[in-house]
Amino acid sequence: MNEQVLRSLLNVEAEQSISKVQIFDEIDSTNSESLRQIQAGATENRLVVASSQTAGRGRRGRQWLSPKNAGMYFSLTRSFSLEASALQSLSLVTAISVVEALHELGAAKLTLKWPNDVLYEKRKLGGILLELQQKEATRFLVFGIGVNIDLPADSIASIDRPVVDLQSIVGELPAPEALLAALLNQLCRNLNDYERNGFSNFSRRWNELDCYRLSDIVIQNGESRIIGKSLGVGADGSLLLQTSSGTQSITSGEIFPSLHPLS
Ligand code: BTN
Repeated sequence: MNEQVLRSLLNVEAEQSISKVQIFDEIDSTNSESLRQIQAGATENRLVVASSQTAGRGRRGRQWLSPKNAGMYFSLTRSFSLEASALQSLSLVTAISVVEALHELGAAKLTLKWPNDVLYEKRKLGGILLELQQKEATRFLVFGIGVNIDLPADSIASIDRPVVDLQSIVGELPAPEALLAALLNQLCRNLNDYERNGFSNFSRRWNELDCYRLSDIVIQNGESRIIGKSLGVGADGSLLLQTSSGTQSITSGEIFPSLHPLS
């Protein structure tokens, strides 16, 4: 990854959002590094990117396998002036940004699984881990994004769910700088839009990409399971679930397809 090449490909929104770029050959986790830097007093908005991660982290305490050059692994840190409740919808905006950037690069037919898994034919192509961190009076948000580019067969075999990489979807892989710039350009443009106008511009876009909308699903949240029909996301980014006791607004949990159609 070459910083100059990357910078030459950034749009105005991304250029203005990223004061500092740090490129690592190997690191434990770009999110962990970003959080450490906040704790050490770094205040500028910045990007941490690595060719490999030894302790890549996913949502719900999962591991994110990150072999060298097999994926794009990066974290964008921005100071954050919104309410913590905005986190939910921001994670959806981030997922939309990843899909829009990859569509621009020729990856067609990508979908989303609430809250922010990026899928191709129901296999996972990318994931997002948002972390909020307070340092003195300032709150920072770390947008951690991982996209599978060219996964080795042993990694595919060792991941406990269906995964896919960009290599299998597009005819020709973009250069790493072009891929990262496309992701950052779309993300920064959408984050600025979100900061000005909120989630309203995004709920329709999210619902159009949702692969489980109007499907029967199970939401698992710890020990609790709720069964219903997904109605897509509401105005605040929560998932609307039509259940036997009415429509519920779900703010956390994981979707599983229901094995049996619900009556
Ligand atoms: C998920 O579980 O779907 C989220 C995966 C997020 C992985 C990315 S890779 C870059 C950044 N650093 C991490 O340790 N995790 C995120």
